[in-house]
Amino acid sequence: MKFGVIGAGQMGGGIAQVAAQSGFDVVVQDVKQEFLDRGRAVIEKSLAKLHDKGRLKDAPDVILARMEFTTDLNAFADCDLVVEAIVENEGVKADLFRQLGQIVKPDGILASNTSSIPITALASASGRPERFIGMHFMNPVPLMQLVEVIRGYSTSDETAQFVTETAQQMGKTPLACNDFPGFVSNRILMPMLNEAIQCVMEGVAEPEAIDGIMKLGMNHPMGPLTLADFIGLDTCLAIMEVLHMGLGDDKYRPSPLLRKMVQAGLLGRKSGQGFYTY
Ligand code: NAI
Repeated sequence: MKFGVIGAGQMGGGIAQVAAQSGFDVVVQDVKQEFLDRGRAVIEKSLAKLHDKGRLKDAPDVILARMEFTTDLNAFADCDLVVEAIVENEGVKADLFRQLGQIVKPDGILASNTSSIPITALASASGRPERFIGMHFMNPVPLMQLVEVIRGYSTSDETAQFVTETAQQMGKTPLACNDFPGFVSNRILMPMLNEAIQCVMEGVAEPEAIDGIMKLGMNHPMGPLTLADFIGLDTCLAIMEVLHMGLGDDKYRPSPLLRKMVQAGLLGRKSGQGFYTY
């Protein structure tokens, strides 16, 4: 199996790492060499940690030897499955899938790790809607069990089956849903994070208190503001916009504070500052 990943960021790097850990040959593409170098360094660190804990079947250098890092999209030509994990922007993703539809071999399957963008729209752009699907991993990919498998309007049974089995081979638990805004995971999670941000804006409580109340009171492993910082506030805003537009209900309106923080460049953990300082 040859496995392609587009985007060497938080999610793409994690997906590529787990695919290589599972024994697949992996091609990782990003737009600049420096992004690939950064992604590779994160993977090396994660593999070293897992190795120390005795959680890898193969040595880190064996796993790394299965991975190829490139800026050239043509490297995906002979991939059986390509998973996209680039910026959460419909126009940018659609453009990419238009190109990939021409590059990847005709029986290759294309998948998006999008948090909220309609799978059916990206499937149409790819020109192979029956061999297109949503494969939504959770962050951090090496540790989280779930893959939400999202069927677009025209996704074939064979494609759904292939991706389900691939997720299982990667040691994950795939669960199926259909293509509606935010799917299941973010339709339920994101309004809660947005509400926590609204609580900060209205001065209901300090961020530490909001997170502490949800952790201790609801037994959540992480408070909503810590989680928003971890996901990336730009990604949270993009998902809320999709929910708001796609479902047309003002209960999904992004908090003005979330919008303002993104405008100010406070994106959470990845920019060093969000609700907390990193
Ligand atoms: P990120 O900002 O960490 O990484 C995105 C990467 O894509 C960057 O390295 C960037 O250089 C690269 N990129 C951008 N445009 C590109 C293009 N045209 N071609 C190739 N590479 C390109 O973002 P992150 O967090 O990894 O998110 C990626 C996707 O995964 C988004 O669709 C997001 O909604 C989704 N996602 C994010 C989760 C999270 O917790 N952050 C969880 C699950 C899904």
